[in-house]
Amino acid sequence: MSRRPVVVGNWKMFKTVPETVAFALEWKQKGGEYPGVDVGFTPPFVAVAALAEKVKGTGLWVGAQNLHWEKTGAFTGEVSAPMLAAAGASCVLVGHSERRQYFGETDETVAKKTAAALEAGLTPIVCVGETLAERKGGKTFDVVHRHVTGAFAKIPAEQIGRCVIAYEPVWAIGTGETATPAQAQEVHAHIRELVRGMAARHVAEATRIQYGGSVKPSNAAELLGQPDVDGALVGGASLEVASFAAICAAAQAAKK
Ligand code: PGA
Repeated sequence: MSRRPVVVGNWKMFKTVPETVAFALEWKQKGGEYPGVDVGFTPPFVAVAALAEKVKGTGLWVGAQNLHWEKTGAFTGEVSAPMLAAAGASCVLVGHSERRQYFGETDETVAKKTAAALEAGLTPIVCVGETLAERKGGKTFDVVHRHVTGAFAKIPAEQIGRCVIAYEPVWAIGTGETATPAQAQEVHAHIRELVRGMAARHVAEATRIQYGGSVKPSNAAELLGQPDVDGALVGGASLEVASFAAICAAAQAAKK
């Protein structure tokens, strides 16, 4: 079955509001059109509303990189899913490895955030993936199993299809090292199998699984050409219009 590719630029802690606005204008001029692909960006919280405003009507996804699971409350420093939706967001990253590694994100909080995002009408982009030590220790499938089943523990199984899963091997993030297309395909197929075990077959077939970890113009076509790789979550190469556009073009070409 054909799945519409989804390519999202994760800007991490890069770009101020003025830089975001400048990027949006440049993207509109030079970014190109990818009618077969869902394209989006997750800027820092403070730039979500400005970006959403600038790209209104273009179909681009705009999202945040994190959220809190409660709607409101005394949680200093946190931002909720309804607040993001009201700011113009349509998606949100959940469980990125940098949040798991540096900010105490757990499978439990990922599950709560995934449910809260769906409830607010946002598409959660749920990030899963093993560290280098885990891969070397032969634990890749165990870790991915724990991340995937954990993330969807608090939602009805058929709603998994409303989420995007991003497989991001931690050892490939920001390191310049990429999983080979065969390594990516192996884990993506395994993730789809896991979803098949949790939900109906058609849900597993429809769920989009992105690859992330040093995706760049030079490796995008090969990765996106794999049968279970349905898009990319792009960090470094999403900060410049030209490199991100080249990746979107590769997604468009791979899935036509
Ligand atoms: P990278 O980041 O493309 O810079 O490796 C990917 C990510 O962390 O989402």
